Amino acid sequence: MGQRIDVNHLNIYYGDFLAVEDVNLNIEANKVTAFIGPSGCGKSTVLRSLDRMHEIIPGAHVTGEVLLEGRNLYAKDVDPVEVRRDVGMVFQRPNPFPTMSIRENVLAGVRLNNRRISKSDADDLVEWALRGANLWNEVKDRLDNPGVGLSGGQQQRLCIARAVAVHPQVLLMDEPCSALDPISTLAVEDLIEELKGDYTIVIVTHNMQQAARIADYTAFFNLKAVGQPGHLEYFTDTVTMFNNPQNAEAERYVSGRFG
Ligand SMILES: Nc1ncnc2c1ncn2[C@@H]1O[C@H](COP(=O)(O)OP(=O)(O)O)[C@@H](O)[C@H]1O
Ligand SMILES: [Mg+2]
Repeated sequence: MGQRIDVNHLNIYYGDFLAVEDVNLNIEANKVTAFIGPSGCGKSTVLRSLDRMHEIIPGAHVTGEVLLEGRNLYAKDVDPVEVRRDVGMVFQRPNPFPTMSIRENVLAGVRLNNRRISKSDADDLVEWALRGANLWNEVKDRLDNPGVGLSGGQQQRLCIARAVAVHPQVLLMDEPCSALDPISTLAVEDLIEELKGDYTIVIVTHNMQQAARIADYTAFFNLKAVGQPGHLEYFTDTVTMFNNPQNAEAERYVSGRFG
């Protein structure tokens, strides 16, 4: 089962620069929540704060709370490496490990976690994850070839397979389809629909149709002006966001009359 995330008074900084201000957001378990909004409003920054990837950047820090099923991920005794085990991330640009085969890429997270796994369990897991990522038929005869030898769309599906192979509670995706062709995009959208039975999913997307198709809830982030911090302007169920938003800025944005 996926876990819920509650964000309370989250301020996110790069050094002295307050990039995103006072986010309060409740992300339901086993649902898809989409982040939308204009470029630079902080969608990726908020996403990276949900698995403590943000603080990898020197000087980057947050104030406030991110609760995963009630547990504050920013509490002093929490190990960020363990957080990233429970909360997986798929990035905008596919990033398979360059020295690894397709098979080893899928198993990379499992190996990192030092989980013992038999050869036949590993084979089953590789097939399950690659089928789930709609990549199995394309690669089943060349699992020992390098992951970086695949096309961009195939590489992204490999990264999704790698992320789900560790069975995280939450899957974060930052514009995962922006490098994919329409067929691969639909395959990934079907996959997301299927995965939400097992995981909580948060996806950043620039594609309104995609948000409308796959998200249960949609968070609209906005920016008062360039150089100002981004903020969460409006959060609601996706049907309301796209059909009857109760927020003027969101209405302008989803109807394409923004800026
Ligand atoms: N590594 C970084 N260092 C400093 N500022 C950053 C960094 N990444 C993003 N920012 C700033 O944080 C703000 C939010 O950016 P980002 O989260 O990338 O927005 P979005 O994903 O909505 O386009 C922007 O002002 C951006 O310039
Ligand atoms: Mg971004």
